[in-house]
Amino acid sequence: MSKIDKKYAEYAALFESELHNYINSFHASPSVLFEAMKYSLEAGGKRVRPVLLLAANEMLGGSEESALPFALALEMIHTYSLIHDDLPAMDDDDFRRGNPSNHKKFGEGMAILAGDGLLSLAMELCLANIKDDNSLSATRILFAAAGVSGMVAGQAADLLSEKKQEYSERQLLYIIKNKTSKMIAAPLAMASALNGGKYMAEMKNFGRTLGFLFQVVDDILDVEGEASEMGKTLGKDAQEDKLTSVKYYGLKGAKEYAEKLYNESVSSLSGVANSAYLAKLAEKIYKRTN
Ligand code: IPE
Ligand code: IPE
Ligand code: MG
Ligand code: MG
Ligand code: MG
Repeated sequence: MSKIDKKYAEYAALFESELHNYINSFHASPSVLFEAMKYSLEAGGKRVRPVLLLAANEMLGGSEESALPFALALEMIHTYSLIHDDLPAMDDDDFRRGNPSNHKKFGEGMAILAGDGLLSLAMELCLANIKDDNSLSATRILFAAAGVSGMVAGQAADLLSEKKQEYSERQLLYIIKNKTSKMIAAPLAMASALNGGKYMAEMKNFGRTLGFLFQVVDDILDVEGEASEMGKTLGKDAQEDKLTSVKYYGLKGAKEYAEKLYNESVSSLSGVANSAYLAKLAEKIYKRTN
């Protein structure tokens, strides 16, 4: 295992153990609601967003304890977005994180509620951890990224753009920015906020570019990835005629765009002390196969 992979595994393990403790510390009723929430949360996933938060927080000199509750809340919101994204009324996907998607296992009603439950639990968790202006600011950043000026708006635009003959680059970039980039940029800006706003402009810039890169790579992998590695059904974007970077730029154009975004993301770290690991994470995201 390379040094970067080892460090990634350490951050992810720290996150998993915190998640495990948290999720087992309370009991929702009816128990099937709780099981449905736990099912998707504990199915794994790459944990990219919490790892970005923990890594940036460490780089900025913050303590693990202060960042972990926010890493949990962030991943809960991301997981809820995936549960809803897979619903028949949205992308209609049967597999997620290597398992049947939430509604396949628990039914559509319970999947909707499991998503709602994760979103509101994330809010409760943040509220319980607001101790000062820094944690208040991190909470604000997270919910702005998740909501109607962020992921939810992007998902709405994504749905509206399906099966359209006419579409623009502006629409494509709006979708990518909102449905994905803001939730990837959030952990970097949150880490800055938790540490008094240190390098905020740089973290926002890096996060935005990395977020675009993340979705463009996802679009490319939907065409040429391995379903077994990705843990989800591929080829769905073309099937649903989604407005993706591949539809707009073509596969070759999307790859060139990804390379440009990767280079930009690394350049945006140039003035940031001790940022070598974040640059390595950008490379890992650029070259990912899952
Ligand atoms: C999938 O996110 C949805 C997108 C924004 C492309 P991830 O690729 O981070 O999914 P998990 O968390 O690893 O399952
Ligand atoms: C989803 O984008 C972004 C979310 C906010 C969940 P996709 O629809 O491309 O994600 P996948 O490919 O299903 O993971
Ligand atoms: Mg989608
Ligand atoms: Mg989808
Ligand atoms: Mg996709």
